[in-house]
Amino acid sequence: MKAALLTIYRLVYEQVLRRLIFLSSAQTAHHRMLNLLTWLDRSRLLCGLLALIRRAVSSDCPVKVGGVSLPSRFIVAAGLVKGHGFATEAEALHAIAVGQNIIPGWRSLPALAGLVEFGSFTRHPRIGNSGNVVWRDAPSRSTQNRIGLRNPGAVAAAAFLAAHRSELPPIFGINIAASPGVTDPQQDIRDVCEAFSAFVEQDIRPAWFTLNLSCPNTEDDPSGRQTEDQTRHLCRAIMDYFHAQHITTPLWVKISPDLAPQQYDILLRVFDEIGVRAVIATNTLPHPAPTDAALTAGIGGGILHPHALNAVRHLTQETARQNHALDIIGCGGVLDGTGAQAFLNSGAAAVQYWSALIYRGPLAAAVIEREIQHGRTPPAGRPRPA
Ligand SMILES: Cc1cc2nc3c(=O)[nH]c(=O)nc-3n(C[C@H](O)[C@H](O)[C@H](O)COP(=O)(O)O)c2cc1C
Repeated sequence: MKAALLTIYRLVYEQVLRRLIFLSSAQTAHHRMLNLLTWLDRSRLLCGLLALIRRAVSSDCPVKVGGVSLPSRFIVAAGLVKGHGFATEAEALHAIAVGQNIIPGWRSLPALAGLVEFGSFTRHPRIGNSGNVVWRDAPSRSTQNRIGLRNPGAVAAAAFLAAHRSELPPIFGINIAASPGVTDPQQDIRDVCEAFSAFVEQDIRPAWFTLNLSCPNTEDDPSGRQTEDQTRHLCRAIMDYFHAQHITTPLWVKISPDLAPQQYDILLRVFDEIGVRAVIATNTLPHPAPTDAALTAGIGGGILHPHALNAVRHLTQETARQNHALDIIGCGGVLDGTGAQAFLNSGAAAVQYWSALIYRGPLAAAVIEREIQHGRTPPAGRPRPA
């Protein structure tokens, strides 16, 4: 029954819906998707139906990863359910007060896709970059973006989630990013801790918190925050704050692809020393934007996959060698059973995905889990760009 439903879903999504979606630009499709999520979020009934559809097709494989028991080893990566950008906190809070849905997908995406990492949220709201900021490369099944950490800011995001507390998914993560452009390390630490405390003060308790150390599309140097000292100070400050507040939520950290092996080793040592429970490898690959080579835009999907897989292989081997007490989560080009299995075979405890939502649709996790369980992966689809 599940197999039949998934076959129908795949045919409908990959042969019809995806072709229609790809008739418009990635940017237009992205906006339409956010509008659709906003519309779906309005209806408890529709979201209940979406959850029923997910349950009907999923054969989840429960895992314990990064200090959390999860019903599935697939998690929607940060960057989709992150909310609108605002110029100021006051504007974001006003939007909530007048009943605006400032975080599209907060109800509908977990219902349909399952586990979701919300964010990234920064201490202060960010409008993000203007102009065309999302692209796709269909032949390689890749995405590229320079959204620039657009988000409503941690205070408004926490207030919005608190207003919907009783309807939040039972298990979700929250991803916090350091504020781009902050050069004073003390200010950096203050901002990050205040962002965490915005959620703690509203008593929003996700199953895990992720610290995003790797934002390639904000014109900040993403490797800057991944040095030994910066990372140690930031993570230590967060853990000290957690201890002071008696917060036992596990801390995960998200890092970049293509760091030097020695840098990965140093980071692992720091994470282990401080008590970080999982490392998400990786964020997107910085690359010139398709429309302006002077700008950087992060690549996800097929092009990222070998880079992320190399990182995961190195991280899992070093973790085992040093007996570090942390899990590695693969992220980057989980587009089919083969891609997901490559991460799991390399020792990843779970995987995160974003581009698969575009190329395999909202039930990507169920489709890919089935491809793993039945050892069958369709030939990598190479749909023509519109
Ligand atoms: C449009 C877009 C926005 C993203 N925003 C964030 C973000 O805010 N925080 C973050 O940690 N990762 C963000 N990411 C990166 C994804 O979480 C993920 O690491 C990356 O896309 C690689 O996974 P994939 O190959 O499955 O796409 C974003 C990705 C996309 C495509």
